[in-house]
Amino acid sequence: MDSSASTEVKGNELLQVHAHVWKYAFSYISSMCLKCAVQLSIPEIIHNHGKPMTLSSLVDALSLPPSKTEAVNRLMRFLIHAGFFATQKLDENQEDLEEVAEEGFLLTPSSRYLIKDDTNTLSSIVLAIVDPVLVTPFYSLSDWFRGNGSTTFEAGQGMGIWNFLEHHPEYSKNFNYAMANDSRPIMSVVVNEGKAVFENLKSLVDVGGGNGTSAKAIAEAFPHLKCLVLDLPHVVADHIPKINTKNLDFIGGNMFDSIPRADAVLMKNILHDWSDKDCVKILKRCREAIPGREEGGKMIILDVVMEDRKQEHDSTEIQLLFDMIMMTIGGKERTEKEWKKLFLESGFTDYKITPLLGFRSIIEVYP
Ligand SMILES: C[S@@+](CC[C@H](N)C(=O)[O-])C[C@H]1O[C@@H](n2cnc3c(N)ncnc32)[C@H](O)[C@@H]1O
Repeated sequence: MDSSASTEVKGNELLQVHAHVWKYAFSYISSMCLKCAVQLSIPEIIHNHGKPMTLSSLVDALSLPPSKTEAVNRLMRFLIHAGFFATQKLDENQEDLEEVAEEGFLLTPSSRYLIKDDTNTLSSIVLAIVDPVLVTPFYSLSDWFRGNGSTTFEAGQGMGIWNFLEHHPEYSKNFNYAMANDSRPIMSVVVNEGKAVFENLKSLVDVGGGNGTSAKAIAEAFPHLKCLVLDLPHVVADHIPKINTKNLDFIGGNMFDSIPRADAVLMKNILHDWSDKDCVKILKRCREAIPGREEGGKMIILDVVMEDRKQEHDSTEIQLLFDMIMMTIGGKERTEKEWKKLFLESGFTDYKITPLLGFRSIIEVYP
C-alpha cells in the first residue's frame, strides 16, 4: 500500500494544499516588495503628487528609465493586491486626453503610514525588520535547533543583539527609530483609553525606554507625573539632547544592576526580549524599585499575551511571528500562565491584563 502523503488528498483539496505550501514558501517576497516600495519612496511620491498618479508619472518621479515601466507596474500590481495601494480612473474631464480612462495609483490607509517624513510613519519598522541583521539569523534556525549555541543571532553576528546595536550605530539608529514609531500609536491609546492606569502615580521610570517616545507621551499627558527613562548608556547618550519635556529625564544604566526608585516601572517590549531566567532577574530589580501596593506601587508592562486573541486570525499570526523573531534573539512571547509564573517567582502577588492594544496588552503587576 502506498502511504505517501500525496495519495491522501485528491483533486481540489490537493490543489489547495499546493497553494498553501507555495504561499508560505513565498511569504518573504511580500516583505521584500514592501521594503522595495519604501526604499524607492513610492508612498511619499504618490502622496506628494496630490492626485491619482499614472504609471508613467510614477516612473518619471522615481527617476527610473522607461525600460523599468513594466516592472514598476508589476510591483504596484502586487502591492495593490496586498492592500498597500489602490487605483482610480483618472478624471475624464482632464485636459490631457491621452490619459482619459487611464488609471492612477492612490495611497491606502496602510501606505499613508509609510510616508517616510511623517512623524507617525511605520516605514522604519519595515526597514528594520527586513534588514539582513534580523533576516539572516533565520537561515541558521534549523542549525541552532540541532546545536548548542545560545541564540541564532549570536551565532551569526558573534554577539547578542544589544551589544551588536552598540557597535553598529547606523542600524541602531534605524532600530531605535522603528521602536519610537511603534510607540507613538500605542502610547496614544494607552494615555487616552488606558489613562486610569496612571491614576495616583507621582513618578514613573520607563525601563529600556529607548529614545523616550513612550515616556514623552506619558509626561505630556500627565504633567504632574515625573518621568525618567532608563536605557543603556550609549542609547541615552544619543537621545538626551533631542527631547525637551519638563517632567522627563534620562539616565544611562543597566536594568540588571539597579532601577531608580519610582511609584511605577513601565516596560514596553522589554521582557519579551529575554529568557525566563533573565526576566526574573529584571523583575526582581523592578520590585526593589517600587513601593508596596498600599502605597501605590505597580509595574506597567506593554507586551503580548499569547493565545488571548484566538478568534482574531491576523492578531494571532502577528503574535506567533513576534515569538519566532524573539526566538532568534533569545526571548519569547508568553501566555497568561507563563506571565503569572514569572510574576510570582519575582515577588509580585497579583496582576491585571487589559487587552487594549491590538495584538498587545497592558499588564499591571502589583507587589
Ligand atoms: C525592543 S527595545 C524597546 C524600546 C522601547 N521600550 C519601545 O518599546 O519603544 C529594547 C530596549 O531595551 C534596551 N536595553 C537592552 N538591554 C538593556 C539593559 N541591560 N538595561 C537597560 N536597557 C536595556 C535597549 O537599548 C532598547 O532600547
